[in-house]
Amino acid sequence: MSIVSSPSGPGANARPYLHGTELAAIGRVLETGQYGHGPETDAFELELAAYLGVDDVVAVATGTAALHLALLAAGVGHGDEVVVPSLTFCASVQAILATGARPRFADIDPGTLCVTPAHIEAALTPETRAVMPVLYGGRAVDLGLVSDQLADRDIAVVEDAAHAFGSLTAGRRVGAAGELTCFSFDAIKALTCGDGGAIVPRTPADADWLRGARLLGMTAAREQRVRTVSYQVVAPGFRYHLSTLHAAIGRVQLANFDKVAARRQYLWRRYATALTDIPRVSVIDLDVANTVPFNCVVRIPAPVRDAVHARLHAAGIQAGVHYPPNHLQPAFARWSASLPATESVAAEILSLPFHPDLTDADVDHVAASLSAAIADEHAALDRSDAVTAGPRGGR
Ligand SMILES: Cc1ncc(COP(=O)(O)O)c(C=O)c1O
Repeated sequence: MSIVSSPSGPGANARPYLHGTELAAIGRVLETGQYGHGPETDAFELELAAYLGVDDVVAVATGTAALHLALLAAGVGHGDEVVVPSLTFCASVQAILATGARPRFADIDPGTLCVTPAHIEAALTPETRAVMPVLYGGRAVDLGLVSDQLADRDIAVVEDAAHAFGSLTAGRRVGAAGELTCFSFDAIKALTCGDGGAIVPRTPADADWLRGARLLGMTAAREQRVRTVSYQVVAPGFRYHLSTLHAAIGRVQLANFDKVAARRQYLWRRYATALTDIPRVSVIDLDVANTVPFNCVVRIPAPVRDAVHARLHAAGIQAGVHYPPNHLQPAFARWSASLPATESVAAEILSLPFHPDLTDADVDHVAASLSAAIADEHAALDRSDAVTAGPRGGR
C-alpha cells in the first residue's frame, strides 16, 4: 500500500508508489543541509550500477535530460538525423531537437509498439548519426543484426529506456548491453525519485564527459568546491544533476524494487487473463516474464475507441492514450513521414489504469467495464449504420 493519498484504484491511470521510508530518508538528507549533487547521489549511482550489472551509471535530473546528454555524448549535433519511433512521449523528440539535430520518424511493429531492426534500417539516411529505440511499455528491443551494421556506419544507439528500468534482454538488465541507455525516474515510473533520470555510459570517457556536462561544465568536483569555493568552467554544460533529496527517494525505491517489479508483473498478467475472452480487445504483448511492465495497453476498434474511453472516464476509470504520434504534432510536422502502422494503432490503443495499488477486484472491474463499453458502443454503431442504410439497405 503506497503512502500517496491522491486518488487510487482505477480512478488513477498511473500514480507514484511510495513505501513510507522515503519520508525518513528525505528527512535525513534535509538535516545534512546538502541538497544539490551530493553523497546520496553518488551512493544512488553505485547502487543503480550494482542492480543493473554495469560498471557505471550517471544520475541526472530527468529522463529528458538523460536523453539530451546521451545524444550529445554520442556526438549528435546540428545537421544530424536521429531515428526515433513516432509513438513515444514527446520528450524523446524534444531531446533530439535540443541537440540541434532533427528526428527521422520510424514506424513500429503494431504487435509490440516498438521499432524492429527492419524499421530502423528503412529509416537510415546518410545524415543518420544515432538511432533511439524506445522500449515501449518496458519491453526490451532487440536490435540484433542491425547493431553491427550501425557500428560500421558510425551510428550510435541511444536507448530510450524510460519505461524499462529492471527489464531483461537476453538474461541481462536493460542497460547492460553496452549502448548508451537512458532511464526516467519521474513520478509514475516503476522506480521514482519524484523526478530523476540516469544514463548508462558506454565507456569511462563517456562517464567523465556526462558528469561534467550535467553540472555546468565545471572542473572542480562538488567536494573540491566546498573546500576551495573556486572552480573552472572547462566545457559547455547544463544544470542537470540529480539532487540528494531526489536520490534519497530513489535509494529507498531501489531497495524495494524487486517487490514492486513482481507486483507489476502480477497485475499485468491478471489483466491479460481478465481480458482474454473479450471480443474485439487485444492486449499489447510485453513479454512479461522479461519485463517490468510500465503500462497495460489494449487495442480496440478505432471507430469506438474514443467513445469507450469517454464511457470509462464517466464510470470513474482513468484510461489514457499513450501516445498521440509525434509526427502529427504541430511542432514536429515538418519532419512528418508516412507511418501507416503507427497511425492505425494510435487510433486503437488505450492504456488501462496501471499501478501497484490496484487490487484484483479493480482489475476485474476495469475489464468488465471495458467489455460492456465496447459491446454497447458497437451496438450503437450497428444501429446507426442500419439507420444510415435505410429500409432497403443500400450499402
Ligand atoms: C518514453 C519516454 N521517454 C522519455 C521520457 C522523459 O522522462 P522524464 O519525464 O523523466 O523527463 C518519458 C517520461 O515519461 C517517457 O515516457
